[in-house]
Amino acid sequence: MERTFVMVKPDGVQRNLVGDIVARFESKGFKLAGAKLMQISQNLAETHYGEHSDKPFFGELVDFITSGPVFAMVWEGENVIATARKMMGATNPQDADVATIRGDFGLTVGKNVIHGSDSEESAKREIELFFLNEELVDYQKNQ
Ligand code: CMP
Repeated sequence: MERTFVMVKPDGVQRNLVGDIVARFESKGFKLAGAKLMQISQNLAETHYGEHSDKPFFGELVDFITSGPVFAMVWEGENVIATARKMMGATNPQDADVATIRGDFGLTVGKNVIHGSDSEESAKREIELFFLNEELVDYQKNQ
């Protein structure tokens, strides 16, 4: 079954949005395979956002994502990678549709509340980067 990596960013944790965001994925019908509140190190931030290392906002991005705890999750389900992206909305909250997470809660592209993997390859890479195998739980979910 497909899995994706989703992370409530420091602004979302500070603004007490973790519960609402988890509830949206639960209500949609996805299965939680792992979750933890954690502080991202400089090294992990630079690795995670490596593809943006030549962008002018890279320093700002790393500073922000390490500025406070994040809530990292792995969600499982049919087509979860693309559906989670839809539920999050456009990267820039100003372009995100209403009823998406960024559309409802975000204002700026830097502090856009949530991150989610954009492809199968990045989901695999990001899950391995943030979670040990034994932190992911395999169980039967009946509804
Ligand atoms: P995310 O999905 O975490 O992946 C890369 C992040 O870079 C993106 O969300 C945005 O939060 C951030 N980002 C993109 N463009 C800019 C920008 N112009 N200034 C600051 N941050 C940006």
